Amino acid sequence: MSLFSPDVFGDVHVKNRVFMAPLTRMRSDNDGVQGELAATYYSQRATAGLIISEASQISELGKGYPCTPGIYSEPQIQAWKKVTAAVHAAGGVIFLQLWHVGRISHSSHHPKDGLPVAPSAIKPSGQVYTSTWGLEDYETPRAMTLGDIAELKKAYIHSAQMAKDAGFDGVELHAANGYLLDQFLQDGTNQRTDAYGGSIENRCKLVLEVLNDIIPIWGAGRVGIRLSPYGTFNDMQDSQPVKLFTHLIEALNSLHLCYLHLIEPRATTAGGNDAISSDAPRTGQLFGKLFKGKVVLAGGFNADNARQALTDGEAHAIAFGRAFIANPDLPKRLETGASLNAYDRSTFYGGTDKGYTDYPTLA
Ligand SMILES: Cc1cc2nc3c(=O)[nH]c(=O)nc-3n(C[C@H](O)[C@H](O)[C@H](O)COP(=O)(O)O)c2cc1C
Repeated sequence: MSLFSPDVFGDVHVKNRVFMAPLTRMRSDNDGVQGELAATYYSQRATAGLIISEASQISELGKGYPCTPGIYSEPQIQAWKKVTAAVHAAGGVIFLQLWHVGRISHSSHHPKDGLPVAPSAIKPSGQVYTSTWGLEDYETPRAMTLGDIAELKKAYIHSAQMAKDAGFDGVELHAANGYLLDQFLQDGTNQRTDAYGGSIENRCKLVLEVLNDIIPIWGAGRVGIRLSPYGTFNDMQDSQPVKLFTHLIEALNSLHLCYLHLIEPRATTAGGNDAISSDAPRTGQLFGKLFKGKVVLAGGFNADNARQALTDGEAHAIAFGRAFIANPDLPKRLETGASLNAYDRSTFYGGTDKGYTDYPTLA
């Protein structure tokens, strides 16, 4: 299996297995409306087998950083329409990543709603960006009531429908990197004593319910999910990650999703710094073969270890993050062995076209 051969993932034809990982760029306006440059940025990367959009909040309360895009209001949808049209005109395929940050937030992002919410009132360690880009300690989140969970599920349904109206080709449910759904999965953050906490089955319940809610909108063949077993980003931990994620992945098998997207924990801060942990557990090895459908792997891949992961049967596609920021024509560069542009970390988040739409392509 070559990185550059086409394939079918669920209901979606992909022209190669070099996918663009979801990448938050914080260049929307304060209301979560994408800027004019987003259509150029994404369409420049349309040679990816699949583009997975930056994480997009499903509600104001789901927002945790300044200037991230939303997928719940009419102006947001109109702006996203320009992005999906430009990607399609360039021959690309694009999924939207549905996001709720849970406790990884600050009340300044959602003053009407007050404190961030989470499965349990456990404060993350570290600091958070406020709505004015200041850094403050995290607040202790409010534990969600059953009523809050019912509202949350409605917000996922609404956003999944909005993503369809905006012209996306599918959605990826963000259940990774320590955000709300991951907070429900892992026992370091979920200490509930009701039907959504305690046993592994109970902790997996919300993720499965949300999937079952959005599958009727899209069809299972256009819904993917992202998980990060062993990931420690955003102060995460679980006492039995193999048991937890084995149970979840086996439960996912019956849903016939478009794909399962797993992040290798060696990319220690989810790409937030350059450290690669050589002794981190190998997610692809541990979990890739448990899933009966297509598997996407991400985290610290280059042309060589990507080919190896495909050859070893751990994955059917590789999602590249930082390399795609700096190399709009990444599939071509990997295929021809051309050198890669280096990325500029200082322009990852916020700012202008610099480090966004101005990376050069090969002649
Ligand atoms: C600038 C930046 C933004 C990111 N934003 C997201 C995001 O919105 N959603 C997500 O699931 N992961 C996000 N990630 C993680 C990446 O998708 C990817 O898993 C990580 O960068 C490791 O892959 P890489 O080694 O190819 O860069 C982000 C990473 C970076 C560097």
